[in-house]
Amino acid sequence: MSLPTAAAKPAVPRINPLQRIWLREIGMERLWMRPAPAAARPVVVPQAPVSEPVSVPDAMLAVVVQDTAPLPVAPAPAPAAPAASAGAAPVAEIVASKRANGRPGIPASILNRTGPPPRPEPKAAEDDVVEAPRIPVAEAVKNANLDELREQVVACTACGLCDGRRHAVFGQGATPTRWLVVGEAPGEQEDRQGHPFVGRSGQLLDAMLAAVGMSRETDVFITNVIKCRPPGNRNPKPEEIAACSPYLMRQIALLKPERILVLGRFAAQTLLGTDATIGSLRGRVHSLKTDEGAEIPVIVSYHPAYLLRSPSEKARAWQDLKLASRMV
Ligand code: URA
Repeated sequence: MSLPTAAAKPAVPRINPLQRIWLREIGMERLWMRPAPAAARPVVVPQAPVSEPVSVPDAMLAVVVQDTAPLPVAPAPAPAAPAASAGAAPVAEIVASKRANGRPGIPASILNRTGPPPRPEPKAAEDDVVEAPRIPVAEAVKNANLDELREQVVACTACGLCDGRRHAVFGQGATPTRWLVVGEAPGEQEDRQGHPFVGRSGQLLDAMLAAVGMSRETDVFITNVIKCRPPGNRNPKPEEIAACSPYLMRQIALLKPERILVLGRFAAQTLLGTDATIGSLRGRVHSLKTDEGAEIPVIVSYHPAYLLRSPSEKARAWQDLKLASRMV
């Protein structure tokens, strides 16, 4: 299936959808970006509603165990910042002048922040080895291959989630891959075992994939937006999303999936840079433009943990899977 291509490039610095979320959270999205030209926004290809009665595969129906891990809920959208004035001043100038004007509503501690919050520096004993200066994640991932990227994720200390984790969960599956499946964040089992979707949600995900003839061993790579488990499965914070997003974007660039299946509201809203509900995002094909210029079809569906709680929605999830596999 061929997707509409974007004709014009935005005349603004390139930021990816995850970075946009972070900018929105700190009230600076509109300072950074003038509205993107229509052609640069995510392309949405509406699909005709599936009219025939839906019969869900038995294997999907059979996985009904209630998942105990609460599903993280997407963060509430931050109030919109006032629009920037029309001049095309360089970004640094805009930020500086707004700081000087003391924009209301944004604490200086956030306004002046240019990345994830600083982590307390451990006090060095006199004969401690002096640490090399920390390289920002976005810089470090740039030339990493998949193995190097995995090592970076496993050793990552870019946000506070590293303090409580047993394992950072890089992802697992076929390389090269046909589909990239993106969930939210590791739960308790994933944190223990170091692999994505190994709990009850994972059993259902495997059954769903098998129903369209796919498996994580041969066709699919599974990962999450956030690589470390938020304590108690709480919602990831904007600075955690911002710190982790370069890993996902690099995974996409390296794996070059034919399509991306995004599971759940949090992952869909983060990857597509929107506040839209999952009900309005599913059932059609979106497109993710990568920094490398590729356009990857994105299909949104319900998170397996939600399906375990609401089995009647499995029929819709089955439609989403068929939509994704029709496009091969
Ligand atoms: N839920 C997710 O979103 N990801 C996992 O890896 C496990 C549960």
